[in-house]
Formats: sequence, C-alpha cells, structure tokens
Amino acid sequence: MWNKDSLKDLVQKKFSDYQFILVSNREPYMHIYRGGEVEVIMPASGMAIALDSLMQTTGGTWVAAGSGEADQEAVVGQDTIMVPPHNPKYKLRRLWLTREEENGYYYGFSNEALWPLCHVCYARPLFSPAHWEVYRQVNRKFADAILSEVRDRRTIVFIQDYHFALLPQMLKEADPRLIVCQFWHIPWPSFEVFRICPWGTEILEGLLGNDLLGFHLQYHCNNFFDTVERILEARVDYEKYAIFRQGKETRVRPFPISIDFERFENFAAAEDTQAQIAQLRHRFNLSGLKVGLGVDRLDYTKGIPERLEAVNIFFQKYPQYQGHFTFIQLGPVSRLNIPQYKQLNALVDSLEVEINSRYAYGRWKPVIVVKAHLSQEEIVPYYCLADVMVVSSLHDGMNLVAKEYVASRVNGDGALLLSPFTGAARELSWAYSINPFNPEEIADNLYKALEDSPEEKAVRMASMRHWVREHNIFFWAARILGDLITGVGQE
Ligand code: F6P
Repeated sequence: MWNKDSLKDLVQKKFSDYQFILVSNREPYMHIYRGGEVEVIMPASGMAIALDSLMQTTGGTWVAAGSGEADQEAVVGQDTIMVPPHNPKYKLRRLWLTREEENGYYYGFSNEALWPLCHVCYARPLFSPAHWEVYRQVNRKFADAILSEVRDRRTIVFIQDYHFALLPQMLKEADPRLIVCQFWHIPWPSFEVFRICPWGTEILEGLLGNDLLGFHLQYHCNNFFDTVERILEARVDYEKYAIFRQGKETRVRPFPISIDFERFENFAAAEDTQAQIAQLRHRFNLSGLKVGLGVDRLDYTKGIPERLEAVNIFFQKYPQYQGHFTFIQLGPVSRLNIPQYKQLNALVDSLEVEINSRYAYGRWKPVIVVKAHLSQEEIVPYYCLADVMVVSSLHDGMNLVAKEYVASRVNGDGALLLSPFTGAARELSWAYSINPFNPEEIADNLYKALEDSPEEKAVRMASMRHWVREHNIFFWAARILGDLITGVGQE
C-alpha cells in the first residue's frame, strides 16, 4: 500500500536529480486578515488539500496565483514563502494577477467558457475573444515564472487543471528539456460538445505540449483521443495510449485522484472530535436526530438545488421523519462575479427558507445552510456527525468530498448517496446510487439509507473504506511518477 514513506522512497531513488515544480491556479495556503491579524487558511478545494499532502512528502516548489488579501504581506524574496507555515516542507511561489487578468483568465475564460463546456450540465459557455486573449497572456505569465524557477536544473513541471491549457506548449517551446505533465481535474467532453469552442485547435495544441496528460477516467481519455483525431492532424496510438504529432509524443492516461486517507482518519479519531460533534449537536438542536449532509462549494455543477428539492420531497413522502431528521448543507460561496453563481446563491437561500417555512416547528429545522468557509479540521466533525452524506453532482470529474466522508467514518457506519455522474462513482460502487436529475430518487434513497440495517450499511462502508485507504493520494502520485519514469528513461 502506498503511503508517505514509500512515495518519498520512490522520489529519492528515481528522481533525486530532478526538482519538482507544481503549478495550479489555486494556492494551498492563503493569508487573510481576521480581527486585524494575519491568519493562514487552506482554500475550499479538495484538490489543493490533496496535493498539499503530496508536496509535503516530495518537497519542491508550488507556483500559484496569490489570492488572499494578506498574501503580499507574507512573502519574502522572490514572492515566496515556505509552507506549511508551522512546519515548512516546500516553497510556495505566488504570482500576482491584476483585476483585469483575474476577470479575463479566471472568471472569464476558465470559468465562463471551459468550466461549463467541460461539465456539460446545461449552462451555456461564454466565449469572449477578450477573455481568451487574457487567458493566453496569463498562461504566458505563469510560463515565465516557472522558467525563472528552473535555473538549468533538471525539472519536472506538474501542471494542474483547465486554467493552463496553453502552458505545456509554451514551456516545451522555451525549454524542450523540461518534463511536462498535466492533470485535468474536470471532465473532458465529447467531440460534439468540444467542437463549439472557437479556440479548440489552440487548446489541443497547447495540451499536446505535455509529455504526459492525465484525466480521472478512461472515458475522458477516450473523449480526448476522439477530439484530437477529429480536429488536428495527429496520430492516436490506441495500443500505447499516446498521441503523436510533429515528432512529439504525449501519453494520455487515466489516474483517478484521491485523498490522504490517514489525514482524515486522524482528524476523525482526534481526542477533541467527539466534543466538537457534541457542540454541533447542541448548536443546531440536533439532539436525538438523524442528520444528512452535503459539502460543496456553491457551484451549479454540484446539484445543490436538486438535493434540497429532494429533501422537500423526502419530508412530504415520509412525514414520520419530520422533527427527526435535519439536512445540513455546508456551502462556501464561490466565483460570485459570475451571474450563474450569484443566481445559485440566491436560489439556495430561497429553498432553505421555503422548506423551513413549510415544515419547521419549535426548535427543529429541516434544513440548515452554512456558508462560512471551514477548514478541513472543522469539516471532519460534520462528516462524523452525518448518518447520510449526499453527493448529487450533475457532473463532476471526481468529487473528493465523497472520499473524505468515507475516510472520516472511522467507526465504519454512515451511508453515502452518490451521483453516477461523478468520477468517484466508478470506484465507490458500494454507495447508494442517485440520479440528481430525479429528486424523487434521491428522496427514496435517503429514506432507504436511513432505514437499512446497520449491518447492510457497515458492509458497504467497509468496502469503500478499504478501497479509498488503498487508492489514496500517494498511490495516485506513484502511478503518475511511474509513468513519468518511462518518459525519463527515454530522454
Ligand atoms: O476540481 C476542479 C477545481 O477547479 C479545482 O482545480 C479547484 O481547486 C476547485 O475546482 C475549486 O475551484 P476554484 O479554485 O475556482 O475555487
């Protein structure tokens, strides 16, 4: 089984001559002001938290956009800071984006064009030439920062996500000796969907700058192969799972991402967790109640209104649970500059009010929405408290929340309701499957999960825990590094 030590071993044995540079838009640590003091928080991103565990093990440099209001105050020298702040293990290099850059590259092309294009959940992508131009410029800005970190050392650059479709090609053109690898954390759509993007050719050319390109699922790899074959003059080799174009090879493989299982298990088993659970029960009047939970950034891909509608149907259809069940939705607000996110935010508020005004009485509330940003340590007691966890994404590359819940159920109880349109569902086949487009099905499964025997649920949970424990973030990284070794051998 892969763990921190075995991964460290692999890195020392096979990659001791290389420096690692990880690149993402979202940084793993943000400095913010709280009560006049500077405080460090981790963002609401399962991806950043999982990769932080990895970087703490391998060491290296993480290049990301500074997004905390006190970030500039915290850096030294070349915009860098060693992290984690209380036990430094790797270097974080922050890049500063202007408001215009953030609007064009992050809110604009990344999240108004690529995000809806790849998620295919009926939000129309916005293709603005101005956003595209800024996206290109910001990819160039990241390329310059990365190249300035390389300094003639043998380097592996590990790029994260759809914010950087053009970066691999820019890096390879500037320095062909770099080993460039990218992981695309969101789905890759079919050719029929992708072809509407006016800059599809440039995006594919950019991505083929990678030596290795990873998706969560074979299905996404196949969509990518098909898209490339139909848009570019390139040869797809289905035996090698590689694309050849202009003398360059890009290997394309599925690597389902995961979490640091032990980190969540340790939080859940920590001494004060039971006290925190008791505090939550007290604060939300949950004494003696069954509890359901949703944990997501407020994003329209996550199926949150559908889930709340399901809770409404659940109380209608199974009135015996009125007064005996509460659904808590943790949902930090996200990307509020984008109109669809603003609308979603308002819709969630109004659904909460509507359901509560229909059923609530005395101290009991059927639905509680908590929008505050919580740290991982603060979320784990909610995972431990929840009899049922609902992950109802309309489409999701992976969904690490599902795996975090499973890892936190140290007593082996609890139940997971999981949308088949998440990458996680391919692995966690023991979950209760729910179609998020059919709230009645969610409601019925909520009832089933609450009524099923503890033995039935324990069997499902044990299988999921076993799977996630083995297929953890270190296993994920080892598989990617294993594939890179093949590439390094050919250098
Ligand atoms: O899972 C996809 C992803 O874009 C991650 O890369 C990111 O950390 C997460 O969603 C949160 O989004 P954002 O960084 O835009 O808040």
